Amino acid sequence: MENFTEGRNHPPKTFKRYTITSALPYANGPLHIGHLAGVYIPADIYARYLRMKGRDVIFIGGSDEHGVPITIKARQQGVTPQEIVDKYHEMIKSSFALLGISFDIYSRTSLPVHHQIASDFFLTLYNKGEFIEKTSQQYFDEAAQQFLADRYITGTCPYCSYDQAYGDQCEKCGTSLNATDLINPKSVLSGQKPVLKETNHWFLPLDKYQPWLSEWILKGHKDDWKPNVYGQCKSWIEQGLQPRAVTRDLDWGVKVPLPDTERKVLYVWFDAPIGYISATKDWAEQGLERGNPADKEKYLNWERYWKDPETKLVHFIGKDNIVFHCIIFPAMLKAEGSYILPENVPAFEFMNLENDKISTSRNWAVWLHEYLKDFSGKQDVLRYVLTANAPETKDNDFTWKDFQTRNNSELLAIFGNFVNRTMVLVQKFYGGKVPSPGSFSDLDTKTWGQIKDFADLIGESLEQYRFREALNNLMDLARMGNKYLTESEPWKLIKTDEERVKTIMYVSLQICANLAVLSEPFLPFTAEKIRKMLGLPQYYWDDARRNDLLPAGQVLGEPALLFEKIEDAAIQHEVEKLLATKETNKTNTLTLKPQKGMISLNDFSAVDIRCGTILEAEKVPKTQKLLKLKIDTGLDVRTVVSGIAEYFNPEEIIGRRVSILANLEPVTIRGIESKGMILMAENSDGKLFFVSPDDGTLSGADIK
Ligand code: 2FM
Ligand code: ZN
Repeated sequence: MENFTEGRNHPPKTFKRYTITSALPYANGPLHIGHLAGVYIPADIYARYLRMKGRDVIFIGGSDEHGVPITIKARQQGVTPQEIVDKYHEMIKSSFALLGISFDIYSRTSLPVHHQIASDFFLTLYNKGEFIEKTSQQYFDEAAQQFLADRYITGTCPYCSYDQAYGDQCEKCGTSLNATDLINPKSVLSGQKPVLKETNHWFLPLDKYQPWLSEWILKGHKDDWKPNVYGQCKSWIEQGLQPRAVTRDLDWGVKVPLPDTERKVLYVWFDAPIGYISATKDWAEQGLERGNPADKEKYLNWERYWKDPETKLVHFIGKDNIVFHCIIFPAMLKAEGSYILPENVPAFEFMNLENDKISTSRNWAVWLHEYLKDFSGKQDVLRYVLTANAPETKDNDFTWKDFQTRNNSELLAIFGNFVNRTMVLVQKFYGGKVPSPGSFSDLDTKTWGQIKDFADLIGESLEQYRFREALNNLMDLARMGNKYLTESEPWKLIKTDEERVKTIMYVSLQICANLAVLSEPFLPFTAEKIRKMLGLPQYYWDDARRNDLLPAGQVLGEPALLFEKIEDAAIQHEVEKLLATKETNKTNTLTLKPQKGMISLNDFSAVDIRCGTILEAEKVPKTQKLLKLKIDTGLDVRTVVSGIAEYFNPEEIIGRRVSILANLEPVTIRGIESKGMILMAENSDGKLFFVSPDDGTLSGADIK
């Protein structure tokens, strides 16, 4: 195996094999473009590229089939959790296959092999004394006779007053919560107020790993991890790590393998990443069953993909999974002691849709299974658009208009057009046979010299997880081909200089052949079409460093179009679907929340609401949703932390008039003391609006 050097700023390191994982999606709903853009398409491009480099790669996927959202969905639908995960596992798996995501295994965490491995992993840590066992008071639903883990409990967030916050997190302001922090806690099972009851759990003392994590990430990966990933890790580590419970009182999941723990399972975020390891074993077992003797050794030694330091482990995930993959899972692996650690975790940011956050509950998404029906045969168009527009360093927006433009003006007009022009001319001039080149002009020599640089150029971008740049380089090769054809004008020269045209068409065909090789990771369906048209074998990546992949005399297939124009009507159809969703969501606004219980005038007069003005606004670092505001309340100038950052830019709201609940007890959020709360109105699509006093009111005026 050849050596290769990773990253410009990183010391050279040689790897014998690659373990590439992609976040295991929860099997409780279909996939949407956000999942694809942020995780699966980049992971697939990377895996395909490395395979073409001749490297030993295993690319792992699978369904995450535990966790409370799955059991809640099952309960709502009156079916078992197993029925839910069976349905969605199949759906997700087949959508991935249709999109050409080239997993070596798509496994699932409900398999016995996973339960065994996760359970053994827990026991190893337990036997090594790596856990702390703690007894604490947790909410219990007496009617359902069940402890209420995570999302089984809802209540009002103590930070932003959102009344649908979960026991583990408030989705409004993004704060991580303990169930006991919630105001007016309510059981999702019975709707009743729960009682506190003693229970014991096992905790991984992350604080113990803090010095090591600091050294490993903050010192060791400063230069080669993406700034967004490094920044989140730094913030977690600097805030101080706390012990994390790795067990839950639930019936669905991997059973805790200890005595007297009948209704306890491993926390889903403890078992899910172990799913990558069990998926590898699943892959090996299936491989051995198929019985190809050439691969037997590889399968028998499957643990090398996890334990040999010459293996490079890379996790592809979305930004919401960073802490689990960069801090908690590595601490688990370190505690176990025999595993390698990830070399890189190239997490992407989020993809929005038509200027709004993708949301499953609001059906604001482009669902993969629907896309595959509406745009049958156009998998590469979606792969292209989501890569060209990938949320690599910041959140990005998918719009149907951009999708159409990128297909019509880039894929079709640049890439498809070049290959098609070349094929049609070769068909016309030489009956579809590759001509022998004559002597080279300066332009031919220059072009010929440039073709072979693209393999290294694109490869270097991919090795550094710069997928947009890599795709753009690929398109530059097609652009170069178009420019070459346009400048050489073979359609005119054919009347005056037949020999020269042979050279031009020969060079153009070599560009087509290089495009077939180098587009494979990005556009695998298109690459295959070109290969078939040209009669090319499945080349390795480095073959494209040569520019004579297609021998003179080879008979080509019939020219076929690589891309079709996407008409306005098709786009209109998609836009209308989204408009209908918007309408439905608006109509849902009319499903008003019931009026709360009566209060007396006295109760109300205890509430002190004032007119105020925003003087300063800034984002709270390392949070998505929080703004730190300085408010003139008339009484004073004070700081309020507000969960509105997703809807308002700080610079836009300076000077805004607001209503402020002034006599709310101060709370500390992310180390900032917040004194009071800004009143906001909320539509059912989650959009927030200021409750602004009219101009003319003075700061400090009472609202009563
Ligand atoms: O966020 C999610 O969708 C999780 N199911 C990802 C799990 S990744 C891994 F740990 F399995
Ligand atoms: Zn909140």
